[in-house]
Amino acid sequence: HTAYGRVVNFTEGEHRWESTAEQDRAIHSIIYDHKAKTLSVLDQLKVPHETVFIPVNGVADAFDVIKKMQVRGAPLIATVGTLGLGVELAKFNGTYDELQVFVGTQGDVLISSRPTAINLKNAINDIKDIAAKDRLVSSDTNNLITKIQDAAYQWYLNEREENDRLLRNSTVCVEAIKPDGGKLVVMTICNTGSLATSSHGTALGVIKQLHVRGRLELAIVLETRPYNQGSRLTAYELQNEKIPFVLITDSMAASAMNHFNVDVVLVGADQVALNGDTANKVGTYMLACLASLHRIPFYVVTPVTSINPRIASGKEIVVEERPAKELITFNNALTAPEGTPVWNPAFDITPGTLITGILTDKGNVDHTNVRSLF
Ligand code: MRU
Repeated sequence: HTAYGRVVNFTEGEHRWESTAEQDRAIHSIIYDHKAKTLSVLDQLKVPHETVFIPVNGVADAFDVIKKMQVRGAPLIATVGTLGLGVELAKFNGTYDELQVFVGTQGDVLISSRPTAINLKNAINDIKDIAAKDRLVSSDTNNLITKIQDAAYQWYLNEREENDRLLRNSTVCVEAIKPDGGKLVVMTICNTGSLATSSHGTALGVIKQLHVRGRLELAIVLETRPYNQGSRLTAYELQNEKIPFVLITDSMAASAMNHFNVDVVLVGADQVALNGDTANKVGTYMLACLASLHRIPFYVVTPVTSINPRIASGKEIVVEERPAKELITFNNALTAPEGTPVWNPAFDITPGTLITGILTDKGNVDHTNVRSLF
């Protein structure tokens, strides 16, 4: 089987980015003050019932909120991790050499919080590069601290800017499925919206743009077992922005493709290899197989920061395994016999050949052209 559909690129002037009051209502996932070096994050485990922001006072807090999945989504994990390191450095009072070691070790601690989402590793590698280059020209501790804090802030600002370009490029490609301007039925999995980024989102951001531009018929949202990011978070965002959607269980995906005449499947990414193999929320591979069988275009919508230029294929991606408890409990009550053996990978790998296009802030490519983005 291969992917169905084609890749269309943005050319100057054919798309106007649109933002509305609905988008201003979008939920914000983090609050950061660069002057005061204070960071807090929305506790996503409490959404949709409560809106509680938790302070992140340094690396240990950043590690905890990422590990416990109080913040999640590959772009947001990177932003919270790097800003957390910046906040930590505001308290640093060692020598220049100690600072160099500290940045390396604390960066590695952060990377170990969730191994599949590559954005954080890419961001920490950037910061390590800054530290390494600084050593060649200076030994001023405060100066290096400021450089790292500014780089973390810049990462956050860039994440927002790249999101605008990503949505412009992706929306053009998705709208080209119906050149007559007809409305689209879109299927998606997990949460890839304002709660997974510090901006509008990736795949869910495109769904929002289609809605704003009058091109969305309906979003079909997979519940996304076992952590229910679809039902807890995506449904919450879509309801909040008054976007038409229906929620289905993951096992309804095949019949929903027929029942709702799905036009396109849009998903995010946690790590993309150079051959286009893509790690994303477990269930994504299933959707790609089903999309191919039903001749439905299947796009990965992702910033280039989620691509790992150091790996040739998905075989090299480490897939995070989550605790059994997530699968056999609901609201802390057991839903299977105690001690039930469980396999609970958080992600799966979709072969590049099953992906119609990888839509990014630097342009849209098929799986054979990922390298051209670098
Ligand atoms: O385990 P999660 O909730 O962090 O998984 C999130 C996803 O799989 C998203 O699709 C991915 O991070 C892209 S978010 C823009």
